[in-house]
Amino acid sequence: MTVAVVTGAARGIGAAIAVRLARDGMDVAVVDLTDSSDTERDVSALGRRASGVGADVTCAKDVDAAFHRIEQDLGPVQVLVNNAGVTRDALLFRMSEKEWSAVLDVHLTGAFLMTRRAQAGMVEAGWGRIVSLSSVAAHGNRGQVNYSAAKAGIIGFARTAALELGPFGITSNVVAPGYIDTPMLRAVADRTGREWGPYAAAAVADLPVRRMGTSEDVAAAVAFLASREASYITGEVLNVGGGLRV
Ligand SMILES: NC(=O)c1ccc[n+]([C@@H]2O[C@H](COP(=O)([O-])OP(=O)(O)OC[C@H]3O[C@@H](n4cnc5c(N)ncnc54)[C@H](O)[C@@H]3O)[C@@H](O)[C@H]2O)c1
Repeated sequence: MTVAVVTGAARGIGAAIAVRLARDGMDVAVVDLTDSSDTERDVSALGRRASGVGADVTCAKDVDAAFHRIEQDLGPVQVLVNNAGVTRDALLFRMSEKEWSAVLDVHLTGAFLMTRRAQAGMVEAGWGRIVSLSSVAAHGNRGQVNYSAAKAGIIGFARTAALELGPFGITSNVVAPGYIDTPMLRAVADRTGREWGPYAAAAVADLPVRRMGTSEDVAAAVAFLASREASYITGEVLNVGGGLRV
């Protein structure tokens, strides 16, 4: 039985990834700061085992305790999805060190701690899949100097993990979503004083597909890269942005 860990899966894209991996036959552990019982219920409803673990991915102690719990509940972990994320938007000249560090910590330190812990069991088993969430914002996005730096950093991190772990049967890839309708994006619209309707309409006006992405669109790409069929793909970045060019 394949066991997957998805960080930040209490809601949004992470929740959709957890459900999609369960639909593909995996048991799924959800690691999140907040209550993940909705996601656990959805995974269980598909006949798969679910384990919800409250943990902060920026804290090595929490990460270690989470893996102990997951290994006890579900067994060794073969698939890791680094999805947990936060935004603390501000223009560069106004951004505080706290806002800068908070975003780099969750995306980069979180992915590092989770991957370092997960790879040990994958190396032992000679098989594993790591998928990390970047963003089209990795190419630069006004008001997101912290988030853009973190999401660009994820690409270097994942490509290096691909180099180091490839000989052990482990792939490491990146999914980079564009505009996806989740609480995170709605909060961005809110913070910049724009109504969701006009914000969403403006965002998709120039997209070839002319629509906002869904969490399920992203989950489908993650599920492919986490599958056995994707064994010859590693160190790659797959954009899921409806044709958005940056
Ligand atoms: N929504 C978009 O348009 C979009 C676009 C590109 C990339 N992304 C990326 O996709 C991922 C998911 O985004 P989303 O829109 O679903 O976000 P979201 O805010 O809806 O969900 C993020 C989840 O991460 C959890 N989390 C935050 N900090 C954590 C920590 N320290 N430890 C454990 N869990 C933590 C939150 O509690 C939340 O459940 C993120 O990495 C985000 O940067 C989102």
